[in-house]
Amino acid sequence: MRNRFSFGMITAITLTFLVLVVVSNRPSEAAEDNKAETKKDSAAGYNLVAPLSAIMEVMDNSIFSKIPDKAKAGKFKDIKREGLFLAEIANLTAQDKEYRNNKEWVSVCEKWKEAALKLSEAADKKDAAAVMTQHAAVEKTCEMCHEKFRDN
Ligand code: HEC
Repeated sequence: MRNRFSFGMITAITLTFLVLVVVSNRPSEAAEDNKAETKKDSAAGYNLVAPLSAIMEVMDNSIFSKIPDKAKAGKFKDIKREGLFLAEIANLTAQDKEYRNNKEWVSVCEKWKEAALKLSEAADKKDAAAVMTQHAAVEKTCEMCHEKFRDN
């Protein structure tokens, strides 16, 4: 009698335990929603934290417009890095939420990136003339985009 009782108890406890394990392992609805949200975001791309106007202003004033004078002064180590930096800014600009699905926008950012990488290579070779040529090539991509996408 005592044995039958404890056998029943053990069975009941084991069953309760199994049910709890199954229930707790089932993903909650909230977790499912989160997963869907994450998937949607990563498909959409990177989210810029700064507005484009701030990125453009600092990139131009502090970096881009100063490159010709630096080339004259022979500051090629700086320019080599700044070319790479500009290429990365082009990468980021391509991700702008408003335009990242616009093929023309993405394509001009790609051209900007390529020209900026060549600018860096020219600086690596300490070739001032090539730096100036690539600076102009980058500037052309700035203008291409502004003509099409900037209000003023
Ligand atoms: C892919 C498009 C694109 C490219 C390439 C681009 N820009 Fe812009 N730029 C914009 C847009 C759009 C704005 C307007 C942003 C706003 O006001 O919200 C802007 C604004 C600016 C501004 C004004 C910022 C302010 O004070 O509001 C400057 C300066 C600027 N860009 C410089 C440059 C330079 C220099 C380059 C190239 C090295 C460049 N841009 C390349 C799209 C681009």
